[in-house]
Amino acid sequence: DTESKLQLVHRHIRTYPDFPKKGILFRDICPILKDPATLTAVIDLFEEHVRKNHPQVDLIVGLDARGFLFGPLLAQRLGVGFVLVRKKGKLPGNTVSVEYDLEYGKAEAEIQEDAVTPGQKILLIDDLLATGGTLHAAIELMKKQQAEILGCMVIIELKELNAIDKLKPHSVFSLLQY
Ligand code: PRP
Ligand code: ADE
Ligand code: MG
Repeated sequence: DTESKLQLVHRHIRTYPDFPKKGILFRDICPILKDPATLTAVIDLFEEHVRKNHPQVDLIVGLDARGFLFGPLLAQRLGVGFVLVRKKGKLPGNTVSVEYDLEYGKAEAEIQEDAVTPGQKILLIDDLLATGGTLHAAIELMKKQQAEILGCMVIIELKELNAIDKLKPHSVFSLLQY
């Protein structure tokens, strides 16, 4: 059931103090990927959320890099396409980009200009929500593409950073909260 799947996921997150900088408590999702049953549980939980709340979704949009580990699996389950938001300089053709701040640095997100058709209903996916800078940048890109943003999904939400407020009115569904 849902509770036992959540517990399985919770047991497969490792915590590292002071990575990649002093003061950051790093939540590592690598053990999830190493255990097929846990990875299946993650995708089951996301699928359940989408089928219940956003059955009209057209596309899953994943964030470079850790959003790429889960997004395509979910998209395939749902029978919809997957689109990549990449860090700058990796995508060919005409692109649109936006700068953003991270919990521990700065970056620039980019998407192919024709990745999303205006009006397409999209859900954003990443592994973790910290300051919300990354998801906020992706939302900006989706607005430039005139996508209809249904919401965001992450495995882990770091609650003390209050990113939920920053991302309003867009909703963030998380499996686990720290
Ligand atoms: C991490 C994480 C999220 C983001 C969350 O990505 O995977 O994408 O930080 O932080 P924020 O809410 O403060 O923006 P990171 O850019 O470190 O690298 P990776 O996904 O390429 O490993
Ligand atoms: N990305 C931003 N903050 C993070 C954290 N504390 N753990 C893992 N990934 C992160
Ligand atoms: Mg990331």
